[in-house]
Amino acid sequence: MSQKSQASGTPQASSRPLHAMFTQVPRRYDLVNRTISLGMDERWREAAARACLEGSPRRVLDLCCGTGDLAVRLKRSGGPGVEVAGLDYSRPMLEIARRKAAERGGQVDFVHADAAAMPFPDGYFDRVGISFAFRNLTFKNPMTPKYLAETLRILRPGGRFVVVESSQPRQAVIRGLYHFYMRAFVAGVGGLLSGEPAAYRYLGESAARFHGPDVVARLLKETGFAEVRSEGLLFGAVRLFIATKAG
Ligand SMILES: C[S@@+](CC[C@H](N)C(=O)[O-])C[C@H]1O[C@@H](n2cnc3c(N)ncnc32)[C@H](O)[C@@H]1O
Repeated sequence: MSQKSQASGTPQASSRPLHAMFTQVPRRYDLVNRTISLGMDERWREAAARACLEGSPRRVLDLCCGTGDLAVRLKRSGGPGVEVAGLDYSRPMLEIARRKAAERGGQVDFVHADAAAMPFPDGYFDRVGISFAFRNLTFKNPMTPKYLAETLRILRPGGRFVVVESSQPRQAVIRGLYHFYMRAFVAGVGGLLSGEPAAYRYLGESAARFHGPDVVARLLKETGFAEVRSEGLLFGAVRLFIATKAG
């Protein structure tokens, strides 16, 4: 991959909502993820990795890779035939991701860049996967159209964008319980364990108020994806979307 570990042009901070929050990696970040998802986040990333690797892609990007959990999983499951890259605009997150990939023996190219201006040619990737960061790109974020258009641009025709993200259960009772869980347990325990209460309040609140599946599907279609299908996980509290670029 020719774009190895390079930094892209750095846009102004004002055009990078949330950047300051993500450059402070919360203490025990991975442990907090395991705890607030009751150990299920890895299973959900596994579902995303399987969807990404379906059809034997050659190049896969973990968009907003954070500490690299999806990227490392993609490389380990995909083997030597798959080039895996991870992109994030937080250098501290990428440092952890690089260490993780080195320890687990997976060759991943980690790239420091903003999702609004990715340093890849048109049609470069067969798959783009994103785990638990689509909300950051699309919840009350003025840059949403740019992020989604950029994702579509770097996918080859027929390529797929795989999103695993918290969602809204369709059943009212389950939805109420889920909102309580996000606002009370996730915000409280996440804040306590990490020492970053504001970050986990944002997580709990944005997840509770995030788009339902129909809005996400509409956003993807409005961007230009030809087909969008989705599958609910954990009573619909998490959802896997697969959006295909027209061939
Ligand atoms: C909640 S974390 C999820 C990380 C990882 N994908 C996972 O599964 O744990 C969101 C990540 O998105 C990154 N991010 C948010 N907005 C971004 C943007 N505009 N460009 C690049 N990275 C971004 C943050 O730096 C952070 O690492």
